Amino acid sequence: MTQQDVTRLQGIFGRNPREPGSLIAVLQDIQREFHYLPREALSETAKALEVPLSKVYSAATFYSAFSLTPRGENIIRVCKGTACHIKGADLLLDQLESGLGIKPGETTPDLKYTIEVVNCVGACAMAPVMIVNAKYHGNVPCNRALRLVKKA
Ligand code: FES
Repeated sequence: MTQQDVTRLQGIFGRNPREPGSLIAVLQDIQREFHYLPREALSETAKALEVPLSKVYSAATFYSAFSLTPRGENIIRVCKGTACHIKGADLLLDQLESGLGIKPGETTPDLKYTIEVVNCVGACAMAPVMIVNAKYHGNVPCNRALRLVKKA
């Protein structure tokens, strides 16, 4: 971690009570700030909140909102449920993969984008569906997918 990262981490500790009950709130703040949970941050959290490191890891791996590997500033989720699959989700995904140079589950080296594949998100009438951060995009023509992502 850089000195700047340590400062950011200290800021997070400063905003939360230094007690074991703050563990989830602190992990959420770290995830938001760094887009993942760096190992050093987990060790520092254990010390700051006086919580065993095993408990910190247990919380960090239990909740799907947390990631132990770097994730992009922008999370792109492509639905591969049946309706989206039939309406061309594979083509849409191909466009994103070749445009960003990454596969699902990967993050671009500049930490700007992460692609994830998800199951039906309950918006089948809008298939194929892509979600960029929290914004849903429906009926996405595969040749527009990358443009929509870059606008995020
Ligand atoms: S299959 Fe994609 S939203 Fe339902």
